[in-house]
Amino acid sequence: MNGNTTLRPVSTAVASIQAAYDRYERGFDEITRRARSRFERRDWSGAQVDATERLALYKTHVDGAVADVHDILEDAVMERTVWAAMRSEHALQRDRPDSELVETFFNSVTRRVFSTVGVDPAIEYLEHCPSDTAADPRSSIWDTYETAGVDPALIRRILVALPWSVPYAQLDRDTVLVAELIDGRIRAVLGGAGPVELDILKSVFYRNKGAYLVGRIRAGTEIIPLVLPLLHAERGIVVDAVLMTSDEASVVFGFSWTYFRVDTPRPRALVNFLGTIMPLKSVHELYTAIGYNKHGKTELYRSLMRHLEEPAARFAFAEGDEGMVMAVFTLPSFNVVFKVIKDSFGAPKNTTRRGVMAKYHFVFVRDRVGRLADAQEFEHLEFPRRCFPEELLGYLAREAGGTVRVEEDRVVVRHLYTERRVTPLNLFLREAEESAARDAVLDYGNAIKDLAAADIFTGDMLLKNFGVTRNGRVICYDYDELCLLSECRFRRLPQPTTIDEEFSAEPWFHVGEQDVFPEEFQAFLVPPGRLRTAFLAAHGNLLDLGFWQGVQQRLAAGEVVDVFPYRREARLQRNEGV
Ligand SMILES: Nc1ncnc2c1ncn2[C@@H]1O[C@H](COP(=O)(O)OP(=O)(O)OP(=O)(O)O)[C@@H](O)[C@H]1O
Ligand SMILES: [Mg+2]
Repeated sequence: MNGNTTLRPVSTAVASIQAAYDRYERGFDEITRRARSRFERRDWSGAQVDATERLALYKTHVDGAVADVHDILEDAVMERTVWAAMRSEHALQRDRPDSELVETFFNSVTRRVFSTVGVDPAIEYLEHCPSDTAADPRSSIWDTYETAGVDPALIRRILVALPWSVPYAQLDRDTVLVAELIDGRIRAVLGGAGPVELDILKSVFYRNKGAYLVGRIRAGTEIIPLVLPLLHAERGIVVDAVLMTSDEASVVFGFSWTYFRVDTPRPRALVNFLGTIMPLKSVHELYTAIGYNKHGKTELYRSLMRHLEEPAARFAFAEGDEGMVMAVFTLPSFNVVFKVIKDSFGAPKNTTRRGVMAKYHFVFVRDRVGRLADAQEFEHLEFPRRCFPEELLGYLAREAGGTVRVEEDRVVVRHLYTERRVTPLNLFLREAEESAARDAVLDYGNAIKDLAAADIFTGDMLLKNFGVTRNGRVICYDYDELCLLSECRFRRLPQPTTIDEEFSAEPWFHVGEQDVFPEEFQAFLVPPGRLRTAFLAAHGNLLDLGFWQGVQQRLAAGEVVDVFPYRREARLQRNEGV
């Protein structure tokens, strides 16, 4: 194609990518906006369908854009000069409030067309530089309430400002309780009462059966987070807790939950606001938490590359027991692990690379109920070789040489998953003080039960496959043995009737692929000693056939589990049967 004839196809191709983005965004917004009516109608299974449907949109629309640009550009589709011209033309959209998402979408299309290794600065956006107009402070995404002190009348104003089509169940009681708790916290933090400003985000966050009002309280330079989880009980809407620390907010926005549905025309402004109440959360985690996981991935990649520029940056083996399926490494200064599927797996693993990827996808589309780490899938990553110790490189080449290619000064990884780094539970229990170890072991049981209630059977129930987050929550990170609980066949171990059967080293009865024998969990669930006693006292029913069959019956009846991203003791409604 010569200079003159490229102009029109370039513009047409840019317009088609933009049109695909707009369709994605419309679809995303439409599903997101349904969250409110799902909550008002207590349509929990509909909400789950929405959450899953929304996750598929990005790929659908990127696929569409890739097909369109192939049709438009024909043979020129592989010409980098054409794409450089396209990027320049595409870059004229910098004043959009969602320009960073627009750019990530463009990158997704070019990367797919070229299978780019690393990044290609000529045809991709490397950093986002929003224009000044995009940061317009006048169109605020929150309402501010100035007050000399927080009282029930103010809380009532905030709550009734939400245009629900259903009533609150007990507004008087809730406003009194909420005002009291907020006032107490303000006094504790500021050392007394005083004038404060409350900034409350206009958008409500929805996830599972909850709706969350998110804001902050400002007094001078002090910022106190404020998260009010709302539930829709049979009697109407109630406030279920008042969360006022950064740690509590971080659990609500944690990486093991399904993404929020929150209607926000200005995602960047929303992420900035959330950053003020959760300074320890990275920007990529916040984008991901509000459903923009692809842009979250872009942000994660950029901050990783910035880390690797440090002269001292070195990858290291992940701590803990080596996996049979995954080769796992980490960067000590960056709280993420990198998981590469090994070339082959020893017995007893009888899965395949494709099977493992299917399990990670299974986790991506299911409700993770706060118990499964979010994993981001990357392709064609390029790292500086100097960041790898030789021993780690040797290990990766040996175990995953089909995926990891070591070159003179770079290491190319064809495919990997990243996950937030947590402390493997086996290591945690070895090192923690007794009470922390006890809490972790009890939460490990809760994790297995939460997952069960969400129709996920963890298969490998071993401590080494679970980890403890910064806030002490136990989550699972090993997915290759997960399956639908409803498809398992829970059985009692048959009693031997002959001497031969009794002393047989192998099972003498037929064991099907889906068969699970809860009595056998006894052996490996928890190490012996005091922790085991505590665990069995709280979770001994995990060894009962009846427990698992009961969960299966509830699943069959369509029950959608209650999961709360806060402690039971923090619940205002805990005695109300909500
Ligand atoms: N998110 C994480 N945070 C910290 N460490 C992790 C994480 N994911 C994995 N690891 C470490 O890497 C090891 C292997 O990971 P993982 O259990 O996912 O692999 P696997 O091959 O599926 O294991 P298995 O052989 O048990 O099936 C874990 O035992 C743990 O020590
Ligand atoms: Mg494992």
